[in-house]
Amino acid sequence: MKKPFSAAITGISHYLPEQRLTNADLEKMVETNDEWIRSRTGIAERRILEDGKGTSYLVNKAMDILLEQKSLDPKDIDLIIVATITPDMIFPATACLVQEYLGAKNAWAFDLSAACCGFLYALVVGAQFVETGAHKKVAVIGADKMSSVVDYTDRETCILFGDGAGAVLLEPAEENMGLHDFILHADGSGKKHLNQLGGGSLHPATHETVDQKLHYIRQQGREVFRFAVPSMAEVSAQILERNGLVGKDIDLFVPHQANKRIIDGTLKRLNLPEERAAINIDRYANTAAGTIPIALSEAVEQGRVKRGDTILLASAGAGYTWGSALLTWAY
Ligand SMILES: CC(C)(COP(=O)(O)OP(=O)(O)OC[C@H]1O[C@@H](n2cnc3c(N)ncnc32)[C@H](O)[C@@H]1OP(=O)(O)O)[C@@H](O)C(=O)NCCC(=O)NCCS
Repeated sequence: MKKPFSAAITGISHYLPEQRLTNADLEKMVETNDEWIRSRTGIAERRILEDGKGTSYLVNKAMDILLEQKSLDPKDIDLIIVATITPDMIFPATACLVQEYLGAKNAWAFDLSAACCGFLYALVVGAQFVETGAHKKVAVIGADKMSSVVDYTDRETCILFGDGAGAVLLEPAEENMGLHDFILHADGSGKKHLNQLGGGSLHPATHETVDQKLHYIRQQGREVFRFAVPSMAEVSAQILERNGLVGKDIDLFVPHQANKRIIDGTLKRLNLPEERAAINIDRYANTAAGTIPIALSEAVEQGRVKRGDTILLASAGAGYTWGSALLTWAY
């Protein structure tokens, strides 16, 4: 179906807190070691946002950079979507806090919860409003303060996550530019393998839920790994195939950064060399909704992306949720 407009990323930025948590630091906190973490995950360090600041702080910082880069008046933003599973509070939405901070008086704003697929989901949702002509400027941000839900006595999860945010601006573009195609999936049966049970309406916070550590991430790592590798690889291969492309047609592959071995599995399936991928898991670990826009923003900053490039995004995470998106870089 032909769309009235194309939606393209016309600006991108990211923000990472300065404080580093290295593998050596974690060795002092739990029974682990640098060699195990590097060989099993590819992670060397992650960034941690200080206490007293929430995810909106990361988003605000990323948005400040984006607004400056685009010389954009916040009043011109029509919609703000924040993809996050670590909102500042249950309600109001973090996107509303951001809307107030920016002075984006004409924007409506909401959060989207799809864990590590959050940015992909939000990008596709935001693009719909541009493609129909309803909106001209949509801000889509993927951000998480994962350190706020990590149990730093659990060596199986605390090594994996970090904090960060990435933001994009979506605007109408020429027909052959911007988002071309997407494939998004969900399978709620994955809920038992990766979740945070406490603090919602099913298990509201009580002394008992805190004693049982239900406010922390729980994960069966091996199960999640077994789901993530084929899912991300398959959904990436599928979107290429249905667009008549093969691996070598991709100028830049931006995968979710959960585990280097998951990324390697996908690269192998696509027959893509590592040089074509944006990989920063060694420095930032898994920032959930933040990983894809942060990695893409860094690649743009490094001059690795030019107008007309074909870019593939792919992710898999809690829900389960997984998906891919194909775009042509527009600036
Ligand atoms: C978590 C993960 C890194 C574990 O790697 P793995 O190769 O599957 O390791 P296993 O779970 O098989 O554990 C191997 C051993 O290392 C141990 N181990 C676990 N964490 C450890 C750590 N931080 N340091 C040292 N040893 C550790 C385990 O206890 C286990 O010991 P055992 O063999 O004596 O039982 C991996 O499963 C993973 O990345 N899963 C996906 C997680 C993810 O991406 N989540 C977010 C999705 S968006």
